[in-house]
Amino acid sequence: MKKLLSILASTLMAVSLIGCGSSTQDSAPAAAADNSSAAEPAAAVEAGGDLSDKKVGVCIYQFSDNFMTLFRTELENYLVSLGFSKDNITIADGANDQATQTNQIQNFITDGVDVLIINPVNSSSAATITDMVVDANIPLVYINREPDADEEARWEAQGWDVTYVGCDARQSGTMQGEIIVDLGLDAIDFNGNGAVDYIMIEGDPENVDAQYRTEFSVKALTDAGLDVNCLSDQVGNWDQTQGQQLVANALGQFGNDVEVVFCNNDAMALGALQAITDAGRTVGTDIYLVGVDALTEVCEDVLAGTITGTVFNDHIAQSHGAADAAVNFLTGAGNDYYIGCDYVKVTSDNAQSILDSLG
Ligand code: BGC
Repeated sequence: MKKLLSILASTLMAVSLIGCGSSTQDSAPAAAADNSSAAEPAAAVEAGGDLSDKKVGVCIYQFSDNFMTLFRTELENYLVSLGFSKDNITIADGANDQATQTNQIQNFITDGVDVLIINPVNSSSAATITDMVVDANIPLVYINREPDADEEARWEAQGWDVTYVGCDARQSGTMQGEIIVDLGLDAIDFNGNGAVDYIMIEGDPENVDAQYRTEFSVKALTDAGLDVNCLSDQVGNWDQTQGQQLVANALGQFGNDVEVVFCNNDAMALGALQAITDAGRTVGTDIYLVGVDALTEVCEDVLAGTITGTVFNDHIAQSHGAADAAVNFLTGAGNDYYIGCDYVKVTSDNAQSILDSLG
């Protein structure tokens, strides 16, 4: 949307390209208007029409990912609530292997699915995936792993039925940093060196969520005028066991100098908590720990004080947004090329209400 607005401001021509989904007139992709759209669904359903015979293919990068498990469960339930038949929703596990997932996408195309929702294994494969799917006249909704700006610009320039639904990871990183800033340097600086000594546990570095959370969590500290000292920055691939191992190693190496542990997600924060406990350290007393996602277990830890805070990665809004976007493509209503949502900072003040909202 940010990109759409800046283009709108700079060129009148963009008026015909933007606003997909915002009104009937503007919503048809530009290429559809001249009947040459490669991505127009074969048989559009009317708004509010019957979706029960529409086939949905969903590709998830890896089923064992805690967050994507919440996401896909909610996605399937919501699709069914919209009128899709459970039998016509197929969800494939990419097993964290792009070749496997590409093969699954090919099979979905051969099976003639009406719409695809894809959480790519490698965001850098998005252009190849988009080409395959658009060539097959199937609308495409990317989720969770955002393709790069050039790729998104291509969808818009071509007027393709392709969109991305997700949150801006910069916001989540900033919120993690703010949770630490709000503690105040005096509370954090156990070793008295005047700086925040931290370790960073990163998700898959190919993923912008990992890149931005790493960058913006620390930026929030420096923006607040704090000095920072990075003791260790390691890749834990979003994985709890790897997170535990890496934090155990760092605590072994740097001992009491570790004041803050930033984890790019909650799964790794849960691993970190185990390592912190094993090392005889106590969150809130001699160390701080933050994650992202607001998994139920982590919200409970935040309430108990055993994790300092997390950031709600709204899998409900994102999965519903993805399903709604799929329907908008099927009805011909179209979508913006970027559909965003907000993160929510989670501390002991609001963890209970986040838990209540998760049901
Ligand atoms: C979530 C992680 C998850 C990753 C998968 C991120 O947005 O915070 O928990 O592992 O997406 O791509």
